[in-house]
Amino acid sequence: MSGYRIRPAAGDDARVLADMLVEAVNWNALRARPRVTVLEDPFVARYIAGWMRPGDFGCVAEDHHGTPVGACWARLFPANAPGSGFVAVGVPELTLGVNPQWRAQGVGRALLREIARRGAASGVARLSLSVERANFAQRLYVSEGYVTVASDDRADVMVRALR
Ligand SMILES: CC(C)(COP(=O)(O)OP(=O)(O)OC[C@H]1O[C@@H](n2cnc3c(N)ncnc32)[C@H](O)[C@@H]1OP(=O)(O)O)[C@@H](O)C(=O)NCCC(=O)NCCS
Repeated sequence: MSGYRIRPAAGDDARVLADMLVEAVNWNALRARPRVTVLEDPFVARYIAGWMRPGDFGCVAEDHHGTPVGACWARLFPANAPGSGFVAVGVPELTLGVNPQWRAQGVGRALLREIARRGAASGVARLSLSVERANFAQRLYVSEGYVTVASDDRADVMVRALR
């Protein structure tokens, strides 16, 4: 595989984001759940419900046919209904997923860099996320400047300052 481009996520990308959300949740193939089960889980669905809301922003990687192969997006959550990676009101939490056949080819890192660039350009000061430490993605985030600010026995909440 080679040759992808990254474009901004749009209001009609809800299906693409749902696909990538399922990939993100099912990162551990040994614990993978069916798509419908994943998306029926309200703690998962909150990352895409009503996409695209004010404050949402993201980017989509596409192959040379225009078929989406990955996405990264950021969403604000209120303090009374926080996401897993919530750190403060006004700090968007990101989600990242790449199609299995496109992994380990630089797409994930490129999406992370683009979401940071877009966030900084629109005045976002910090981005947050939640990642299970057993997921190699945790090391990818470290290498892109994310710092662990909270942990439990399984997962880290990480933050990157954009300015
Ligand atoms: C995590 C994920 C988004 C990374 O995207 P990707 O396109 O595969 O990653 P990249 O190709 O940009 O690689 C980034 C780094 O991770 C490393 N890497 C890639 N796949 C790896 C693997 N299976 N194991 C260990 N390291 C790996 C790469 O070597 C690269 O490091 P390098 O630049 O120093 O060589 C993607 O693998 C994915 O969708 N996984 C399932 C969903 C998920 O875990 N989402 C994040 C939830 S918090």
